[in-house]
Amino acid sequence: MREPVALIVAAGRGERLGSSGPKAFVVCGGRPMLDWSVDAFRAAGVERIVVALPQGYAAPDGCIGVNGGAERSHSVRAALTAAADAAVVLVHDAARPLLTADIVRACLDGLGDGVDAAIAAAPVTDTIKEADGHDVVRTLDRSRLWAIQTPQVFRAPALRDVLAQDDAVLAAATDDASLIEAAGGTVRVVPSSRENFKVTTPEDLRLAELVLAERLRADAATAGPG
Ligand code: C5P
Repeated sequence: MREPVALIVAAGRGERLGSSGPKAFVVCGGRPMLDWSVDAFRAAGVERIVVALPQGYAAPDGCIGVNGGAERSHSVRAALTAAADAAVVLVHDAARPLLTADIVRACLDGLGDGVDAAIAAAPVTDTIKEADGHDVVRTLDRSRLWAIQTPQVFRAPALRDVLAQDDAVLAAATDDASLIEAAGGTVRVVPSSRENFKVTTPEDLRLAELVLAERLRADAATAGPG
């Protein structure tokens, strides 16, 4: 099989983070947030990496950079264009710096026969209610609910087909797998860790810093002195 290609979307502004620059380039754990995801893919053996970038920013060494689009899905489409020969692609948000090689491998393994997309997800721990304004309409069955993350692994032709739709359809999609679902494709969830959360607010950034510091301490302890 041709090797899978990671498509990391890093072109968002990250307004809710309140940073002066794009979120993917905010320093977290001593380096731009984006770099942690690049490391996780490489640790899982995924060497071909395309990054959708904000204007004026360069891709990390060894990655292919493309200009991102106005909406997230437009950035995914731009990155996919640079992976024209890929059979399998992994779409990932640079805003999830706590990605691990184990999660990457589990998602790749999840793309079994007859599956169009395998997506990282964590079981929901809160009770989720649907409301009309502030009026509760119903309580959903939590045992069937998953909080969806990235990576989302796709058969590249299936992703290419759904991303060929109108810009307005793409702009309304909050993840890429929903486009596959709407087209009648088969999507599987792959159990992941809640630690692979998306950095959106300043509180998330503080939490990500703490987890990264903990991982670095654990790595240093394993490596031992010297
Ligand atoms: O804004 P949000 O946190 O949902 O963005 C998720 C990911 O999509 C981030 O990594 C962000 O950089 C990326 N993105 C992008 N192009 C956009 C909007 C978001 O690459 N136009």
